[in-house]
Amino acid sequence: MGCALIGCGKALPALEVQNDELKALVDTNNEWIVTRTGIESRHIALEETNLDLAERAAREALGWDEGGWAARRVEPEEIDLVIFCTITADHLVPSAASELRMRLDLPNAIAFDLNAACTGFVYGVTVAESLMAASAAGVPGAAGRNKVRRALIVGSERLSRITDWAERSTCVLFGDGAGAGVLEWNEGRAGVLGTHLVNEDDPTGALLCPLEFDMPVPFAASGVDAGADAEAVLRERAGNPKQAITMNGQAVFKFAARAMSDAVTAVLDNAGLTLDDVACIVPHQANERIVRFAAKKLDCSMEKFHLCIAHAGNTSAASVPMGLADAYEAGRIKPGDKVVLVGFGGGFTSGALVYEA
Ligand code: UT7
Repeated sequence: MGCALIGCGKALPALEVQNDELKALVDTNNEWIVTRTGIESRHIALEETNLDLAERAAREALGWDEGGWAARRVEPEEIDLVIFCTITADHLVPSAASELRMRLDLPNAIAFDLNAACTGFVYGVTVAESLMAASAAGVPGAAGRNKVRRALIVGSERLSRITDWAERSTCVLFGDGAGAGVLEWNEGRAGVLGTHLVNEDDPTGALLCPLEFDMPVPFAASGVDAGADAEAVLRERAGNPKQAITMNGQAVFKFAARAMSDAVTAVLDNAGLTLDDVACIVPHQANERIVRFAAKKLDCSMEKFHLCIAHAGNTSAASVPMGLADAYEAGRIKPGDKVVLVGFGGGFTSGALVYEA
């Protein structure tokens, strides 16, 4: 018995911005971005809110809309829990999870947001799995407690609203998007085989973002607004200091490559498995080079990793579930396969889980 994945989906905003278009905003070029990161384009939400993107991904995962993968259609009343993993919720209150619960009309679900930066989805699935296992085990005298049998876990971001579009070392990396997964406690399935979560210090503040979720963006429906002075756009609000993601790229790169390989090794040890048992690894997609470094450290072929960073960029908490839905759509994951999800990000957080498909 275990916590099985029974559906996953993804959503990208309509506007796709190519690398070369960013030349209108900062001193950069396609070659630098592709060779340093593997990113060719990213999607930017203009009309779409974070909630809109999450809803689209969730509807696929629940088997309500075409796309993604779903073992079956899950009815609204079957969902007991919604965890919305994000660092760019549309509002602080109500939570994005509460808004999604209402938008999808899930009458029996409890709902909350989770911020573990880019590791959000791995944390979210781990929390859901623990609640399901506790519910299934039963606790003496626990009559009346919430029982969690099925959960909707979403990773969704509008990073364009916390990106400094005048800073070339970060703005070329990020994009908007959403991914979602539906989990079910199933007496006849193995499901999640092992989890491993880590938090370590980021003493120098290598990855920071203050509280400001809705900065203006220098984009129009046709793409980059070439007439916009990106610096001026960001300073539009009187007295508003530049509030955006700042990153010491090299420090984060080193942490990421180590944390990723450590997490994969630890989770496989916990589950009594080796890399040879694993059919597919879906990593957080911050930079293709980080994945290559980690693969080398693990002595693992790059072919085992499923990447879709080229046309999405780094979408933080959305990246792992989006990659997962992409892997199912590409036919890379078959029933019985062992799959590893691994994330790392601000905090510093990192973690991995392994499940049987
Ligand atoms: O989601 C989790 C958090 N994020 C990450 O995991 C990202 C981790 N870090 C990285 O992926 C990489 O460090 C970056 C992609 C951010 C940067 O790559 P790098 O190979 O570490 O480049 P660098 O920062 O050492 O910069 C090399 C050069 C510099 O020029 P000089 O000083 O050598 O003349 C930069 O000014 O590249 C320059 N540069 C650029 N050039 C063209 C930096 N950004 C750009 C740009 N276009 N966009």
